[in-house]
Amino acid sequence: MADNKIIDGKLIADTIKKEIAAEVAGMIDKGEGAPHLAAVIVGEDGASLTYVASKERACRSVGMISSVYRLSAKASEEEVLNTINFLNNDPEIDGFIVQLPMPKHINETKVIQSISPDKDVDGFTLHNIGLMQLGEPCFLPATPFGILEMLKRSNVEVAGKHVVVLGRSNIVGTPISVMLSRKGVDATVSICHSRTKNLEEITRQADILVVAIGKPEFVKADMVKEGAVVIDVGINRIEDNSEKGYHIVGDVDYKEVYKKASMITPVPGGVGPMTIVSLLHNTLLAAKKRK
Ligand code: GUN
Repeated sequence: MADNKIIDGKLIADTIKKEIAAEVAGMIDKGEGAPHLAAVIVGEDGASLTYVASKERACRSVGMISSVYRLSAKASEEEVLNTINFLNNDPEIDGFIVQLPMPKHINETKVIQSISPDKDVDGFTLHNIGLMQLGEPCFLPATPFGILEMLKRSNVEVAGKHVVVLGRSNIVGTPISVMLSRKGVDATVSICHSRTKNLEEITRQADILVVAIGKPEFVKADMVKEGAVVIDVGINRIEDNSEKGYHIVGDVDYKEVYKKASMITPVPGGVGPMTIVSLLHNTLLAAKKRK
């Protein structure tokens, strides 16, 4: 029997993928051509290679075209910028992402801000961040958008609820705080970070707790209110003796927190698949604008 306490991100993402695949098929039937997503990856970071491979697989599974531009870890900033310039101007590409993090010698801000806002399906450029802040149509960043969609499709009421967000990163904590507090979503949001005092007191007030700090199993049961909804954004590799050499855990001590939560996302199979499907959603949006 399905455990309805677990928010099954993979299942929700699979449903959305079917909806996207139907739209892609419609575009192909009309002769408009399939949406095309490109990814730029610089270097050989294991986790980044895994994420990019998943994004490629997901693209193909809905009938989209996917290409990957692989640059060496020693590539110069100029080479990365040239690649982006090429993709900005290539009419075959509807949208692209530059996988983060990049090697230390490359200025990430400069690189990200050189992406054309029309193709910025990660929603990382100033243009799209500004539109998000104003509540105007734009490419919303994939992880926050995926979390909101997941809450909606799991019938979790957000309006008027106290959402505590742990973490203030540019790609998750900060944008999700903005998106949750917007008119129409209407949550009351607290943002906590490494300098927050009495963290547990605040997290225990959360009706919905969103955890995106990148610390394995950081959130323990005594930090969570009985009946809270817990969204775990963490993907942490823990080395072990398995064939792969590691396993994945979230930022939440799942086994213990599960007992207290009314609903909880697993890792893997929670937020991760929602991020990927949101990227597909944005790519479809980009392709529709192009037509
Ligand atoms: N690194 C971790 N998450 C992301 C993401 O959503 N987009 C990109 N480009 N890089 C990431």
